[in-house]
Amino acid sequence: MSDIVTRKTKCPVISIANMKGGVGKSTIVIQATFAYSSDKYRFPDDKKILVVDMDPQGNSSTRLMRRTDLSQLEGTRTHELFNEDLETIKPVSTPCGADLIFSLQNDGSLDDIELRPMEVFLNPIKHIADLARSGRYAAIILDCPPSRSRKFTAALSCATDVIVPVEVSGFATDALSGIMESIEIAAEVNPVVQLTGVVINKFNSRSKRHKQERETLIRVLGDKVFDQPLVNRAPVDEANAEGIPVSKITSGAGRAAAKEVEIICNEIAQRCGIEILKGKKPKRSPASVKRD
Ligand SMILES: Nc1ncnc2c1ncn2[C@@H]1O[C@H](COP(=O)(O)OP(=O)(O)OP(=O)(O)O)[C@@H](O)[C@H]1O
Ligand SMILES: [Mg+2]
Repeated sequence: MSDIVTRKTKCPVISIANMKGGVGKSTIVIQATFAYSSDKYRFPDDKKILVVDMDPQGNSSTRLMRRTDLSQLEGTRTHELFNEDLETIKPVSTPCGADLIFSLQNDGSLDDIELRPMEVFLNPIKHIADLARSGRYAAIILDCPPSRSRKFTAALSCATDVIVPVEVSGFATDALSGIMESIEIAAEVNPVVQLTGVVINKFNSRSKRHKQERETLIRVLGDKVFDQPLVNRAPVDEANAEGIPVSKITSGAGRAAAKEVEIICNEIAQRCGIEILKGKKPKRSPASVKRD
C-alpha cells in the first residue's frame, strides 16, 4: 500500500494508546507537546509537532488550545479525517506553537464514527501519511480514546510507533496483551507499526509494591519499558487542568515533574527517531543578540 507512512519519511507518527482509561495518555500528549514546542528543543527546518486528537473527550484539544469551547475554531476536525476524500487539511495553531487537528469537548461527530462501517478506520491512513510527508512536522502525536473502537484501530493503523502509558497494577499486563492484539490487526494494513515503548505513570518510588510491579513489567517486556517513569505528582494534574507546561509550576514538585517530562521526551525521540538539533531554540533573532 503506497498510502501508508514509512520510516523513510523521517516524521514518526506516534500513537499514545491504552484501552484503559485514566492512565495518562492525554497527559503525555499534552506535556510532551509543550516540552517539544519549548525553546529546549529544535527540529531541522523549524519543523513542528502536530497533535491529532482521536478522543471525543477532546482533552488534548481543549488543554492545548487553553479553552473549552472550540466550536467556533476554524480548521480541520478529527472526524473529517474519516472521510475518504478531503480537499484540504488545515490544522490549527495552538498557543504553544504546535499544530493541532482537534476534536470538541464531547465531540458527537467523532463519537458517530462508530456508527459507520468498520472499513471507515482505513480513511485517516492516507491523510495522516500526507501530513507526515509534507515536511512540516518533526513528529505527529495521536491521543487515543480509551476504547477498542474504529478510532482506536485507525490511530494504530496510521502509526509508526505505539507508546503505551500504564499504571503499575496487576492489570497493566492485561492491558498490554489487548494492545498487542490491536497492533496485530493494524499491522495487516500497516506493516511498519510497532510497540515502541511502555511508560510507567503515576509511579511512587517509595512504594515497595510499585517497585515490584515495575520489576515484573521489565521482566515481561524487557527494554520496551521506558527507563524514566512519570511519578504521581500534584503539579502534573494542576498543569493539565490549567493547560500549561508543568515546567511553569516551580513550587512543590513542579521542577522534578518537568525534568521527568523532559527525560521522557528525550526517550520518545530516541526510540521513535524524532530528529532533534543540538542547542536551544534562539530566543531572539540573531541581529538583536548583543555581543560583548
Ligand atoms: N503523573 C501524574 N501525576 C499526577 N496526576 C496525573 C499524572 N498523570 C496523569 N495524571 C492525572 O490523572 C488523570 C488522568 O490522566 P489522563 O487524562 O492523562 O489519562 P488518559 O489515559 O488520557 O484518560 P482517558 O482514558 O480518559 O483519555 C488526569 O486528571 C491527569 O491530570
Ligand atoms: Mg485522554
